[in-house]
Amino acid sequence: MLVSGKEILQEAKRGKYAVGAFNVNNMEILQAIVEAAEEVNSPVIIQASQGGLKYAGLEYIAEMGKLAAAQAKVPVALNLDHGTDFSQVVRCIRHGFSAVMIDGSQMSFEENIAITKKVVEVAHPNNVSVEAELGKISGVEDDVVVAEHDALMTDPDEAAEFVERTNCDALAIAIGTAHGVYKGEPKLDFQRLNEISSRIDTPLVLHGASGVSDDAIQKAISYGIVKINIDTDLRIAFSNAVKEVLKNHPDEIDPRKILGPAKSALKDAVKAKMELFGSVGRA
Ligand code: G3H
Ligand code: ZN
Repeated sequence: MLVSGKEILQEAKRGKYAVGAFNVNNMEILQAIVEAAEEVNSPVIIQASQGGLKYAGLEYIAEMGKLAAAQAKVPVALNLDHGTDFSQVVRCIRHGFSAVMIDGSQMSFEENIAITKKVVEVAHPNNVSVEAELGKISGVEDDVVVAEHDALMTDPDEAAEFVERTNCDALAIAIGTAHGVYKGEPKLDFQRLNEISSRIDTPLVLHGASGVSDDAIQKAISYGIVKINIDTDLRIAFSNAVKEVLKNHPDEIDPRKILGPAKSALKDAVKAKMELFGSVGRA
């Protein structure tokens, strides 16, 4: 069933586990994620990034996402990931998204507050929850690029003021993760995370969580992270399976036989994340 992001995250906060937010770009990926959630009885967030919307089309993602959610017994939220402009947020709400992220992290603190408040004003009356971002997460997420030297950790005082003034439902924070494939081992600033979560009640979101060690993920959850964004690890699972099929069967021309195994590999990857995040059996 389709539910708001807020509903899923508040429940997760209460239960002290995290919910995976997985990026969707096509039907196979969407089905794999929702089937995984159903099979392990976990709530789930499906989301589309700027690149995903450009690739599949906002309407396609919205209709497919709503269908998948309606057919599922587990709670499913449909989220706009890294929304950067107000009119796109409004289009997503009109098309039935149950959650939106407005990423004003490239703006000044005051501008970020202003755009987030504006989004909250249109989203909340429609029972759509809002995730905002404070601090800059480095790396490349489709069209959103942040150089390492521009990345900025979230300041706990600013985080407290930000949630107070915006009334957002979730806050993405920068504590040392990055989008895309890591070159070295990422070092998370747990002290900062601890300080932020002790100051605010708003559910906290970890972006750039692919490639982060299982130990670090579990520690982050114990320190208050309740939404974990995963895209890169799913891309790797999907494309490795495609490569494997084509290596073993170079003459294969049936897309179903190429994408079918990729779908199951992605489904296994999602289930493993759900297990790690502690959301299994929580639907
Ligand atoms: O918003 C999506 C996630 O932050 C993607 O992070 O590249 O580590 O999978 P990832
Ligand atoms: Zn992200």
